[in-house]
Amino acid sequence: MKAGMKFDIRDPALASRGEERIGWAAQEMPVLQQLSERFSKQRPLEGLRLSGCLHITTETANLALALQAAGAEVVLCASNPLSTQDDVAAALVENHAIPVFAIRGESTDVYYQHIVAAMDHQPVITMDDGADLVSEIHKSRVDLIEQMLGSTEETTTGVIRLRAMAREGALKIPVIAVNDAMTKHLFDNRYGTGQSALDGVIRATNILLAGKTFCVVGYGWCGRGIALRASGHGAHVIVTEVDPLRALEASMDGYRVMPLLEAAAQADFIITATGDKHVIDTQHLEVMKDGCVLANSGHFNIEINVGALEAMADARHRPRPSVDEYRMADGRRLRLLAEGRLVNLAAAEGHPSAVMDMSFANQLLSAVYLAENGRGLENRVHRVPGEIDAEVAALKLAAMSISIDELTPEQRRYLSSWEEGT
Ligand code: NAI
Repeated sequence: MKAGMKFDIRDPALASRGEERIGWAAQEMPVLQQLSERFSKQRPLEGLRLSGCLHITTETANLALALQAAGAEVVLCASNPLSTQDDVAAALVENHAIPVFAIRGESTDVYYQHIVAAMDHQPVITMDDGADLVSEIHKSRVDLIEQMLGSTEETTTGVIRLRAMAREGALKIPVIAVNDAMTKHLFDNRYGTGQSALDGVIRATNILLAGKTFCVVGYGWCGRGIALRASGHGAHVIVTEVDPLRALEASMDGYRVMPLLEAAAQADFIITATGDKHVIDTQHLEVMKDGCVLANSGHFNIEINVGALEAMADARHRPRPSVDEYRMADGRRLRLLAEGRLVNLAAAEGHPSAVMDMSFANQLLSAVYLAENGRGLENRVHRVPGEIDAEVAALKLAAMSISIDELTPEQRRYLSSWEEGT
């Protein structure tokens, strides 16, 4: 730890356990490691102040270390009050002199105080997961904007918020939508959330999924992964959607598709992954079966109307660490996991490192891109440059010892011409 360094974490004594786990995750993150080695020589972020509002996990620790190796002065705060791994926060502070402001279970007030600490670092680049940091800078610290090169955004919900800001002319910095890179959402949202959301449900409840009715609300990238993995566990999967295309896709992928009100009456598990508000509401809570397990995997804790659940229930108790069991007036018990916050991070450890390897390689390369090009970019949401996506995919394949074929010159010509037909 650097003398005089400010931070706010649970307990510095947890550092050695955190360090072990960060090292364990690193072994599954070869792309990030390779880029980190390259940038530790080139130092493309030399002296740049960077604040990240991210889930404080072992994978984020590896990203922070790679940013530091590239020369950045990194400060981290949490992007969710329940996702912080306190041992990881301790290791970053104690062993790597990276100031962290994050305590698992922090109140909403403390959560925002920690964002203030990240803004006090006077970042020239920010990294967000849900757009809370960029949003706070635009609301309360506009003085920082002038010096900023830009920001990156990790998740679907954040990109939606930032696009809304840009549409209203409120966005005053360029933002790179890391979420929209193919090497991010095709893998992280689908396979990462698919595995880790199920992991969260299983760790929280230890209830057998085989033979149960499992309802997935929202068939986007996350929903597809959750449905796939629930089905692999032998559950009977129902999908609910509002988008006809996605509903059709779910049906042809082999799932039953119906309105949530119908599904709610039969489901043993209901998990939301929509990025939308009050998707599970009073009318659904009224018809659910006794023992139904409710969880959310979308970014904010607004998908399940927890206020309505609390108002409808006569009593609540906590039979297991991440389970709140609500007893309704008619005797039914409804079980809410992780207070309706993202179940994969709050009740498990978040995405497996191997998918975060690609997401965070995109983050690192996008930060370097901003350092080199940020001044010339318009104040709007930008796609991750195609070359970055292609590089991450190629590095990941190589790390997995997978080689692929190349187009022959004849095929290359054919695929870019129109003359040849039947
Ligand atoms: P997406 O945009 O691909 O899919 C969302 C789907 O929900 C869409 O198909 C939409 O039609 C559907 N939907 C919206 N309102 C609905 C409603 N009332 N009922 C049924 N379906 C509805 O988004 P993606 O990438 O799947 O992300 C979903 C959420 O998960 C976002 O909040 C995102 O930020 C978050 N996320 C969470 C992760 C985690 O670690 N738990 C990882 C990645 C994303």
